[in-house]
Amino acid sequence: MRPVILFRKILLTVLTVAATSTVWADNGYKLWLEYHKITDAAKVKIYTSQLGTTFFQTKSAQSGVAYNELSSGLIDMLNLKPVKVSSVKDGGLIIGTRNELRDIDHVIAADSLFERIGNEGYIIKNIVIAGRKKVVVTANTDIGILYGVFGFLRLLETQTDINKLNIVEYPRTMYRILDHWDNLNRTVERGYAGASIWNWHKLPGYIDQRYIDYARANASVGINGSVLNNVNANALILTTDYLIKVKALADAFRPYGIKVYLSVKFSSPIEIGKLKTADPLDPQVQQWWKDKANEIYHYIPDFGGFLVKANSEGQPGPQTYGRTHADGANMLADALAPHHGIVMWRAFVYDNNVPDDRAKQAYNEFKPFDGKFRPNVIIQVKNGAIDFQPREPFHPLFGAMPNTSLMIEFQLTQEYLGFSTHLVFEAPLFKECLDADTYAMGKGASVANILEGKYNRKLITGMAGVANIGSDINWCGHPFAQANWFAFGRLAWNPGQSSDKIADEWLRMTFNNDLTFVKPMKRVMLQSRETAVNYMTPLGLHHIMGVNTHYGPGPWVDDAGRADWTAVYYHKADSGGIGFNRTSTGSNAVSQYLIPVRDRFENLNTCPEKYLLWFHHVKWTYPTKSGRNLWNELVYRYYTGVDSVKSMQQIWNNMASKVDAERFTAVKQLMSIQYQEAQRWRDACVLYFQTFSQLPIPPGYETPAHALSYYRDQKFLMAPGIGGNQ
Ligand code: GCU
Repeated sequence: MRPVILFRKILLTVLTVAATSTVWADNGYKLWLEYHKITDAAKVKIYTSQLGTTFFQTKSAQSGVAYNELSSGLIDMLNLKPVKVSSVKDGGLIIGTRNELRDIDHVIAADSLFERIGNEGYIIKNIVIAGRKKVVVTANTDIGILYGVFGFLRLLETQTDINKLNIVEYPRTMYRILDHWDNLNRTVERGYAGASIWNWHKLPGYIDQRYIDYARANASVGINGSVLNNVNANALILTTDYLIKVKALADAFRPYGIKVYLSVKFSSPIEIGKLKTADPLDPQVQQWWKDKANEIYHYIPDFGGFLVKANSEGQPGPQTYGRTHADGANMLADALAPHHGIVMWRAFVYDNNVPDDRAKQAYNEFKPFDGKFRPNVIIQVKNGAIDFQPREPFHPLFGAMPNTSLMIEFQLTQEYLGFSTHLVFEAPLFKECLDADTYAMGKGASVANILEGKYNRKLITGMAGVANIGSDINWCGHPFAQANWFAFGRLAWNPGQSSDKIADEWLRMTFNNDLTFVKPMKRVMLQSRETAVNYMTPLGLHHIMGVNTHYGPGPWVDDAGRADWTAVYYHKADSGGIGFNRTSTGSNAVSQYLIPVRDRFENLNTCPEKYLLWFHHVKWTYPTKSGRNLWNELVYRYYTGVDSVKSMQQIWNNMASKVDAERFTAVKQLMSIQYQEAQRWRDACVLYFQTFSQLPIPPGYETPAHALSYYRDQKFLMAPGIGGNQ
């Protein structure tokens, strides 16, 4: 072909591709609130005709925010600027509190329904007035209206039919809180998305737009609280200088219904109060906390309360003075009670000087105090008894403290799930725990039911998520990690929702409604956690990550300063087999579960294979359910995990024309890192465990790229996430 003709042909091809493919850039900053233009003409027609006129009175900061959100959503999605009408009968879309809609509230719902939705819930419904069909969004309060508006916009973003609406939504837990492990010097403990978003140095004078965008994103999924600083707390946060900065954040968040909370160091009275002790029974100490609480509420009248990590991993606490967790928590609770604040007291306690299985220690320390905490204390319990592992059975404290308020703590930041380079959708992990049956009140007492306070209406309820947010432009480091923030909010609001529904919503809102995109990517998301478990810690293995950084595999770690920080403590591999015997012949951690859960875990034949090595030390030749012996099953799982990452990559590679170029490339690169890291996990673990099993890798599997020594010698000294409490 002559060069000129060739050039013309190439030019033509380039122009055609540019005209037909969707190449645009999106840095992910807008999260799931981008309000993409709706292009389906039929839908646009229906939406536009229904929503062209709006009745919406905006009298408070919160309803003002709701109105602005609605306006920008309708403009972006439908290019629609509705006419604001002053009479209900003229509006196609009617938004208002029950009080504002008094004339028509009887048409909307019965009194009992308004009671059920409480202070934060909402109703979205079609009603007919004077022969005209309307969409009504109503609630008892302005914050309910804000949640309702976000709920309504979500319907449009996911292109739902708005002609058959009858939605009644209300949160099942009271305190839906993000815990930031952010230090005052802007490092983030276990943070993989850049520096802390809180710029303490520039506060209070400078309110970064991010603070508002953050509050808005939280409100859009029903999160109503934010603990600003690391649980390994710096006492400085309670000094007046910092409280003034905290106030500035509280003021910025308030219109979005977000309250601020602080992690406090138990020894603050000594460190910043010049007292000689922090003994909770000392009157001077008690007075110091009361004065401090008064000061805080002077600045922040709706301050949420304290989060406390005490007598855990070196932190001070009441036991330092021979007192109990109840003494410590109640003392702080008494200081906050006059202001309606709460204490979230963490049950993440274990001590290597206690000669017992780490998995048992929180239960042993806390269960005796059931019913001994003040009504404004809520015990914050991690989903599992060790530490946010890729898979853990539910924490035995759920179901063991019927007279104590318990909130669950999940970890959104992927400390043990591949940092921000691995695509791992955590909703299935959260759901596995929430749906687990504790049998505390007979069959059906799921962790979720306990958290919702179904068996004791006097308790306060909540869910906390350790945030995965940083100052990376896309907030969470990995575009898909945003889905974990979203999923946490949706599940804290209603733990009954399915992972499938949440993934579906998130994909549609964040990317698009094209089913050829949504369906395959939803499958990828729903499989992704199991995939990570397979290439990291299959069959109930746990805590075999690199020492300290928790980055990459470290099954060989046997010296970490204390036994319960080593990997060998947890996998107990030897020539006889592998796994931690927590049955009655071992540590007997199973005894902390109620019958029949206890029996199911105790018995090798009934213990779910996913928890096998969590509860049992099993022979290498033990026949697993697949027919493969344990060694071959372990190898199979590790290799399957890596293969699944490859499939994930193939599916994503087909999505180039369906998503923007920027996020497409970002995810593609991250998946390639994930693949390499999954391979490293697989090869390192298989080779290491082989030194005990002495069995061959079965035929047909790729040979590990390097010898075991290569993996053992790799050092990752500057891996992110080691914060320190500064
Ligand atoms: C894990 C994590 C720590 C964190 C601790 C906690 O152990 O590695 O960085 O401080 O959990 O939850 O308190």
